[in-house]
Amino acid sequence: MKRVDRLRISHDDEIATLMETEAGQVEYWHRLDNECTQSPLIRLLQESLKHEGDVIECGVYRGSSTRLMGRRMRDLAPGKRLFACDSFEGFPQDRILDTDLGPFRFRFKIRRKFRHATDVPGRLVSFFDAYRVNGHVVKGFFSDTLPRMPRRKYCFMFIDCDIYESHLDCLNALYDQLVPGGIVVFDDYAEPKWPGASRAVDEFFADQPAELEQLTLGGRTLWYVRKPQAAEAPPRADKPPLLKSA
Ligand SMILES: C[S@@+](CC[C@H](N)C(=O)[O-])C[C@H]1O[C@@H](n2cnc3c(N)ncnc32)[C@H](O)[C@@H]1O
Repeated sequence: MKRVDRLRISHDDEIATLMETEAGQVEYWHRLDNECTQSPLIRLLQESLKHEGDVIECGVYRGSSTRLMGRRMRDLAPGKRLFACDSFEGFPQDRILDTDLGPFRFRFKIRRKFRHATDVPGRLVSFFDAYRVNGHVVKGFFSDTLPRMPRRKYCFMFIDCDIYESHLDCLNALYDQLVPGGIVVFDDYAEPKWPGASRAVDEFFADQPAELEQLTLGGRTLWYVRKPQAAEAPPRADKPPLLKSA
């Protein structure tokens, strides 16, 4: 196991210990609140919560972004459901393409990433129960799980799954369930380490009436698409080219 994974797991162990007492639970809830104020992801989530529909995250790993979103949703929209989707055992091994290999990146190394998360579904369920967050873990590869989920409306989607085919699995299964005005955030767009992410997003939106925008907050930039209302959509011929990754 790599050092970075060991550190993440020991951080999660500390949180679990903290949450064993009532005072610790209160402290952790405050800590999450502080993190939320500096997060562009949470700023965009908050904007979207005024729309009808639930929230979905595709690519959870150890659940840090899930817990932040759950924190805000518990306060602002406790009735909305938060779906946390991941294999919790890394990428589908045979679906990492040449297009996913950034500079000095090797397929055999990418294959090993994010495999140490089999304990995360249980930890997330404990978190959801402790704070009465309306969260649901969806475990499995997106190509299996997403098409089987009942169709519903979403106001917010957070796509953080790094590779080309995983992005397309999410967009193909979910984008038509995003309500007009709803937001889809791409954590890996324009990220040189993950060139397949930009390629998938550009390809998917090439013939869609949608613009990529970016938000910078707390030193972090996130790219997103706000689904246009039907009447707002520019005519296809006028549509400017989508931004390309750096
Ligand atoms: C960068 S991590 C997510 C990080 C998380 N959002 C955070 O901010 O802490 C990417 C995750 O995507 C998951 N993933 C990628 N492709 C997937 C697929 N096709 N099906 C299920 N999970 C996938 C991996 O297992 C990994 O946990």
